[in-house]
Amino acid sequence: MRALSGIKPTGTLHLGNYFGAAQQFAAMQQKNYEGYYFIADYHTLNTLPDPAKLTENTWNIVLDYLAFGLDPEKSVIFLQSLVPEVAELAFILGNYTPMGLMQRAHSYKDKMSKGEQINVGLFYYPLLMAADILLYKSNIVPVGKDQKQHVEIARDIAEKFNLVYQKDLFVIPEPFIPESVAIVPGTDGQKMSKSYGNTIEMFAQDSVLKKQIMGIVTDSTPLEEPKDPGKCNVYNIYKLIVSAEKAKEMADKLSAGGYGYGHAKKELLAAVHEFFDPMRAKRAELEKNMDYVRKVIAEGSAKARETAVETIKEVKKTVGLAGNIYDGE
Ligand code: ADP
Ligand code: TRP
Repeated sequence: MRALSGIKPTGTLHLGNYFGAAQQFAAMQQKNYEGYYFIADYHTLNTLPDPAKLTENTWNIVLDYLAFGLDPEKSVIFLQSLVPEVAELAFILGNYTPMGLMQRAHSYKDKMSKGEQINVGLFYYPLLMAADILLYKSNIVPVGKDQKQHVEIARDIAEKFNLVYQKDLFVIPEPFIPESVAIVPGTDGQKMSKSYGNTIEMFAQDSVLKKQIMGIVTDSTPLEEPKDPGKCNVYNIYKLIVSAEKAKEMADKLSAGGYGYGHAKKELLAAVHEFFDPMRAKRAELEKNMDYVRKVIAEGSAKARETAVETIKEVKKTVGLAGNIYDGE
């Protein structure tokens, strides 16, 4: 079974990325899934026309991947744009993709409804993502809930292609979304997202981390009064990080009263440190060894490309492209 996922290099990783997606990447590796994990840099051109920033973010996500436990011995770790066959596949798949399917994509519809300027790259986004998934014949795609529709679009396109050519060429992928962490709330209670400025970053400096946690929005219930844990943003983040027993302890203290949001924030900060400090230390070490990091990416991308080239040949042969020059092989 093959698992595949990617993260866009639009900024630094936050707790939403970790608990919503990245944690599952590392867990699947332990369960002996063959993992393909990449940095979705083509997908980022759409929102980040800044070459220096795109490059910087890309290596930051590579470091993050290695720091949270992706192991190049067990998984193929690569850069999307080092395997350009994905763009070729996206182009080919466009011919089996109904316009209506693309027009229903949230990513495009949301921006349209806000009257934003839209380029073709944004409209095309789900097709490129379908190509990412189908190129590597992935069975399972660990992502956060907001990406479910994109995986469903990839399924629809794969089914359509297979039907047209009466061939099970593409594997029909399944999204993998653990319900317990479907949406990680941000410091303001909305979905945690880089674009909302409400993140708690996994690898931020101590002072930044403290500021982000102390800045979590809470209501004005006085310290001595009981508080509803379910409505407390601090608790809702805390419970993702700690054991069920520890989470219950905080819930009980909040419900009992005499325990303020400030106390809860301190406990959350300590829990974030305990959980992420080993990864932060590993990341700091890797940063001193960029030659190794670059080698991991060069080798991972070469390996990913081998798989990609095979699928592309199969696709071209199936649809009759390139004069079927591959027939003799
Ligand atoms: P952002 O919304 O911050 O730009 P991305 O779109 O880069 O995040 O998301 C990368 C991965 O992390 C995706 O699989 C996405 O579903 C997941 N993810 C992002 N934010 C959250 C969240 N708040 N809760 C759960 N998963 C999330
Ligand atoms: N669209 C995903 C996101 O915004 C990133 C991504 C690109 C992806 N290609 C993918 C995720 C393929 C899973 C599989 O987070």
